[in-house]
Amino acid sequence: MKDIVSQIEKLKKEKNAIILAHSYQRPEIYDVADFIGDSLQLCQEAARTDSSIIVFCGVHFMAESACLLNPEKKVIVPHVDAGCPMADMVEPDDLRSFKKKHPGAVVVCYVNSSAAVKAESDVCCTSANAAKVVRQLDAEEIIFIPDRNLAAYVQTQVPEKKIIPWKGFCPVHHTLTKDYVEGIRETHPNANVIAHPECRPEVLMLADHVCSTTGMIEAARKDPANEFFILTECGMTERLSRELPEKKFYGLCNMCFDMKKNTLESVLTCLETEETEIKVEKNVADGARDALDKMLELS
Ligand code: 13P
Ligand code: SF4
Repeated sequence: MKDIVSQIEKLKKEKNAIILAHSYQRPEIYDVADFIGDSLQLCQEAARTDSSIIVFCGVHFMAESACLLNPEKKVIVPHVDAGCPMADMVEPDDLRSFKKKHPGAVVVCYVNSSAAVKAESDVCCTSANAAKVVRQLDAEEIIFIPDRNLAAYVQTQVPEKKIIPWKGFCPVHHTLTKDYVEGIRETHPNANVIAHPECRPEVLMLADHVCSTTGMIEAARKDPANEFFILTECGMTERLSRELPEKKFYGLCNMCFDMKKNTLESVLTCLETEETEIKVEKNVADGARDALDKMLELS
C-alpha cells in the first residue's frame, strides 16, 4: 500500500495533477487527496486549480461539474461508471414537459444531476447553499430538481417562496426513518444528531443539525457536545473522526456503492493511463456552465 501511495504521489508531481476527493470516498483515498470536500467546495476547487490534470474521486456528476468549470483542464476519473442514482431520476425531456406546466417558475437544479439537465435549468445549488441560492432568486415559484427531500428542507428555510419538488431521492438517505432516529435517541442519549438534508423531512425534524458533509464538520466543532450520531453515508463518520479526534462519532452502515468504487489501485491506473477523461457534449456545456456559474456567484 505504501508503494502505491508513493507511486501516486510521484505521478501527481510529474504530471502536475491534483486529486479532488468527496467526503464519502474510502479513507485510503483521503490519504492521497490534495483536497477533500463537499460538492460545493469541490466545484470551487475545480474552478480555481492551476494543475493540468484533475483526478476526480467522487461520482460522475461531480467530475462533469469540474470539467464544465475548468474546460482547459483534463478531468479524469478512476471509474466512469461511478454514478448517482438520484441524478438519473430526472431526464431533460421530462423536465422540459414539467417546465411547460409551471411557466412562471425558475428551475433550481441540485448539482446531483447530469450536465444535460443542468442545461435545462436556471441555476444550480448544492446541499451547502440550496436555501441561500433559492432565497436570492427573483421568482415566487421554484421548480426544485431532483431531490424531493432537499426541496422540502429548502421550503422550511425559505417559506416565502413556493417550492415545486421533483420526485427524486437518494437511495442511501431516503431509507432512514423516523423510528430509526427515535431508536438512536434511546441507545445514544448523549449524542447529538447531525443529518444530511437528503434525509426525509420527518428525520430532519428530529436532528440537532442539518448540513452538507463539510457543514457537519463545522457543526460538530462548534457544538459543545462530545458525541454525535451522523445520519448520512457511512464514510462521513471516518472523515469526522479524522478532523475532530477529540470527539466521538457514531454512524450508519448505509453505503453509497458508487462512491466506494474508487480504490488506490484504480486511482494509480487512472493517473498512469490518463483514462477515463470526462467530456461534456458541446450542445449542453454552455447552458450547464451558466447554471453552475450562477450558483457560484450566489454562494
Ligand atoms: P454534499 O454536497 O453535502 O457533500 O453531498 C453530496 C452527496 O451526494 C450527498 O449524498
Ligand atoms: Fe448520489 Fe446518494 Fe450516492 Fe450522494 S449518496 S452520490 S446522492 S446516491
